[in-house]
Amino acid sequence: MALNLQSSTEAFQEKFKKSGELSAAGDQYIPGGYSRNSLTFGPHAIYVERGEGQYIHTVDGHKLLDFHNNFSCSILGHSHPKMREALLDSVSKGFSFGNPMAHEHRLAQILCERIASVDKVVFTCSASEACIAAVRYARAYTGKDKIAKFDGGYHGLGDEFTLSIHSAAEHFPGAPEFPRPVPLCGGIPIATQQNVVVLPQNDFASCKRILTQNAGQVACVMMELQTGAGGVITLQKEFVQSVRELTEELGMLLIIDETISLRSAFHGMQSLFDIKPDLTVMGKMIGGGLPLGAVGGAEKYLNMNSNGQVYHSGTHHGHPMATRAGIACMEVMDEKTYARMNAQAARLKDEINTYAKQKNLPIYFYGLGSHLGYEITDKPGRIYSSCREILTYSNHEAMQTFAFEMATRGIFPMYRGQIALSEPMTEADIDTFVRISKEVIEDIFAP
Ligand SMILES: Cc1ncc(COP(=O)(O)O)c(C=O)c1O
Repeated sequence: MALNLQSSTEAFQEKFKKSGELSAAGDQYIPGGYSRNSLTFGPHAIYVERGEGQYIHTVDGHKLLDFHNNFSCSILGHSHPKMREALLDSVSKGFSFGNPMAHEHRLAQILCERIASVDKVVFTCSASEACIAAVRYARAYTGKDKIAKFDGGYHGLGDEFTLSIHSAAEHFPGAPEFPRPVPLCGGIPIATQQNVVVLPQNDFASCKRILTQNAGQVACVMMELQTGAGGVITLQKEFVQSVRELTEELGMLLIIDETISLRSAFHGMQSLFDIKPDLTVMGKMIGGGLPLGAVGGAEKYLNMNSNGQVYHSGTHHGHPMATRAGIACMEVMDEKTYARMNAQAARLKDEINTYAKQKNLPIYFYGLGSHLGYEITDKPGRIYSSCREILTYSNHEAMQTFAFEMATRGIFPMYRGQIALSEPMTEADIDTFVRISKEVIEDIFAP
């Protein structure tokens, strides 16, 4: 008999009972029991006790193969020896200073050397802050106030970005070619919403119309080449190149948010699209799992910081521990390691997709590099070209069932239809993921 959401939810709650109890207990002091809405994995988060290599050990006494890796951030998995060494050395020297430390330069140098469009960088504590900072550079440079973002794009906690991330079908404020800002939650001022122009993914004619109409007001276009939080969509190369040209024509900066995608290409995902953005936002892997973000770009933009045109500061920006961890992580992630991990992800994707095609099952895995999306669709063979299509055509109940079953059977995926590999993973781990995914999907669609 086919699995259903109710029985899978019950099995999940039974297996992760202590996590459920901790969530409830934590609610006394923290709303919901933890500070990140995104951690809720159905009824509650799974509380972790420790992580080691490619595994997490939960408070419920289970060892899970971690295909979540903190929303793709922990690219070296957990407690990697190189990171541990760097962090222990950093701790031995003190924790926090009102002075810079020289190794911040080393991390900046690595980023500048790897990403062709980046001459200089400034650090923040998170990619959310880096997105806010990047927009400030764009506004200061262009003298314009509005920003453009894509429907389905995620750029962190800033008010201007908390719009049109998951514009679910029932909330579509119009045709896909005419997207309008849809706040994700309360608390986003109307004035802020009016400052944001929303663009449809992979539809250049509409983007051109919208950007041309707003050319006098839009300072920058924020873009993820492969989206994450809104659902995984890899933009088409021709589309991205056309937007690059258009922004130049219209006097807008193109900001590529590589917070996730840097993990998928040694020179940044922008290198795969043959474009040079004006500014690049980085996060997640550049801190190796510690809180760190960065904005990078050409000197003409970044030097607005040193000449006083743009103010950029924060108590913990470029924190010594995060930058030390970041150097260790980036050094482990050499070109060979990227190639190995990307090949593992490609094999995982191909094996499941081939199987789904043979069996006529409506699941598919997609994306570039070591961060992939997966969707259970309304019918076999459907391919998406925008986050809106994901929301419209995915079988959300089956997606939830799949995620609960994977966790119950020993694999921790991202709840929202994504997985991220980590450096310690072996070919056997990929085999395990493929085998269990096949079993679960077969069980969901059993007659
Ligand atoms: C593309 C992208 N930009 C920005 C952010 C915000 O990063 P942070 O959570 O470090 O503030 C995220 C987080 O998931 C992201 O995926």
